[in-house]
Amino acid sequence: MILFTDEFKLFFNDLALQEIADKCLHISLDALNVNNGNIPKWTIALDELEAMPKGRIELNGPYISMVESRLNHEILVSSFKRLLPWRKGPFMFNNLKLESEWQGDLKWKRLQNHITPLKNRRVLDVGAGNGYFTLRMAMEGAKKVLGIEPFLLFNYQHAAIKSLVDNEINAMLLPIRLEEMPKSAIFDSVFSMGVLYHQKNHMEHLLQLKEMMAPDAELILETLVVDGPKGYSLIPEGRYAQMRNVHCLPSVDTLKSWLADANFNNIKVVDISKTSPQEQRRTEWIGDNAASLEDFLDPSDPSLTKEGHPAPTRVIIICHN
Ligand SMILES: C[S@@+](CC[C@H](N)C(=O)[O-])C[C@H]1O[C@@H](n2cnc3c(N)ncnc32)[C@H](O)[C@@H]1O
Repeated sequence: MILFTDEFKLFFNDLALQEIADKCLHISLDALNVNNGNIPKWTIALDELEAMPKGRIELNGPYISMVESRLNHEILVSSFKRLLPWRKGPFMFNNLKLESEWQGDLKWKRLQNHITPLKNRRVLDVGAGNGYFTLRMAMEGAKKVLGIEPFLLFNYQHAAIKSLVDNEINAMLLPIRLEEMPKSAIFDSVFSMGVLYHQKNHMEHLLQLKEMMAPDAELILETLVVDGPKGYSLIPEGRYAQMRNVHCLPSVDTLKSWLADANFNNIKVVDISKTSPQEQRRTEWIGDNAASLEDFLDPSDPSLTKEGHPAPTRVIIICHN
């Protein structure tokens, strides 16, 4: 990703972000400098997209969208296909709908009216995937939105979208894990969505989020939960909804107690929703292994996963430092 350093300098040209700039740059360059057999294929996609005319992205319904009549449809399709699977989105370029597995707009709608407006805030989006939400946050007028996401493909997808855009977007995605971030309490809003259940140590994750938060900053936490009293958590043996790395699903009251133990204040549950097949669905943009939610549930009882656990339900909690 050749243009990385230029974009980085522009983004980190901010008094508070300067504090963490050098360390973030080193960690990111190290992460990008790995042996990954897919990098040549992903680089071809980026080069092809980079050579195309650029346009303005804006929101068009659920899509982060761009209209630019000179875009070559066939090249767009083949480049985006080199970057499969598209889990997060959706995006649209002219009339090409890049329908991701997740219909991200539905999650955004569930939280949008509950969060402190992002205008002029510094935002950290932890476990940002390809940055669909990172871009949505920037589109809400945030001063800076830093997305961190260790999975390299998602960083390439983000670069692919950005390579087609000519409006200034105050968002950047870096290949950094939360635990590697230089600790600095500079962010006004911190998002951790779909990340907590992937952590072996949930308290450590909550405390690391807290360390990045400015005084009075807001945490938006979204994670899988199960029914049950305070103190109850499901620790799946083996897979959960076919996912391998799911460590712990607390009840809502257990999760609230974890947040209280981590010294968060004003802990408010703003949404609890069962994941629907409209939100997580099979699409042609997730590639050969096109399984999605409906394939992960028990065909005779969709209230259970194939492993016999309660089907995915997600909570959104907002709290303060
Ligand atoms: C289920 S996805 C959620 C993506 C997006 N936030 C959303 O809500 O749709 C979780 C992402 O978190 C990333 N992740 C997992 N552990 C992480 C960590 N310790 N630090 C940063 N990202 C992490 C994974 O690579 C994955 O892409």
